[in-house]
Amino acid sequence: MLVFKHKADLKEHLDQSRAQGKKIGFVPTMGALHQGHLSLVLNSARENDLTLVSIFVNPTQFDNPEDLKNYPSSLEKDLDLLESTGKEIVVFTPNTEEMYANKVISGSFDFDGLEHQMEGRFRPGHFDGVGTIVKALLELAGADRAYFGEKDFQQLQIIKKLAEKENISTEIVGCPILREANGLAMSSRNERLTPELRNQASFIYKTIVAAREQFGMKNAEDLCEWVENQFNTIDYLKLEYVEIADEATLKPVKSFNKNDRYRLFIAVFANEIRLIDNIALN
Ligand code: PAJ
Repeated sequence: MLVFKHKADLKEHLDQSRAQGKKIGFVPTMGALHQGHLSLVLNSARENDLTLVSIFVNPTQFDNPEDLKNYPSSLEKDLDLLESTGKEIVVFTPNTEEMYANKVISGSFDFDGLEHQMEGRFRPGHFDGVGTIVKALLELAGADRAYFGEKDFQQLQIIKKLAEKENISTEIVGCPILREANGLAMSSRNERLTPELRNQASFIYKTIVAAREQFGMKNAEDLCEWVENQFNTIDYLKLEYVEIADEATLKPVKSFNKNDRYRLFIAVFANEIRLIDNIALN
């Protein structure tokens, strides 16, 4: 498995692979890899000849300096996990200087309003940071396909919009959420939870599944209020927001149309650790 730190070396290798007729799949990550990340890698390996995995903790997408400082990192373990798949994988692990040089952030993006909802409201500047790095990485990789998890559903929709607006020809592929045995959505941040909290955090999934079961019986507002009330009964998790939105626009809805698709989105604090999740309602 080849590991590159510099853009020029990576580009040369990818150009050679393309010249040999290889299809390239790309999985951008911030490391501390878990089975959720691995599922994207395996989807890519199934549909492409070579999979590029980037591992880069992108400073410009963190709105909270403490979150950036505490973000887990386990490069050796990550490389072992990727190697153990036996697939043709190339890893890109640039440092911040290599990715940003003297530039900081490429201004603010217009994602047709997708960026103003949910995470965009609670994490100012987050999607400008994501847009900046993902645009740079997609352009560098020139991949046939790039894989993103529905765990970050808003990010997935924004990256589809980014590719469309910036004329990036890479196909953006969404992949389902992988969960721990207790239902908690896998996340690098879960590593910062105590075993007790990790267990208790299964409350998030249990509650959103119970909300989905009431879809069609309650309107959106009442469903969200029901979720809020559930969180009011416990003290180990603090609800930041719960919203029901149209999958395409991510705008919150009041009532439901037969032909549109809806998802419930939630952000919760477990101590200072912020967890997000979402579920398709229909
Ligand atoms: P990161 O949080 O490392 O996630 C990398 C990719 O893995 C994202 O597409 C994310 O949605 C997906 N992923 C994470 N947990 C998952 C799970 N439980 N099931 C399925 N997919 C999961 O998202 C980022 O990094 C960054 O914002 C990035 C796109 C790399 C830009 O810096």
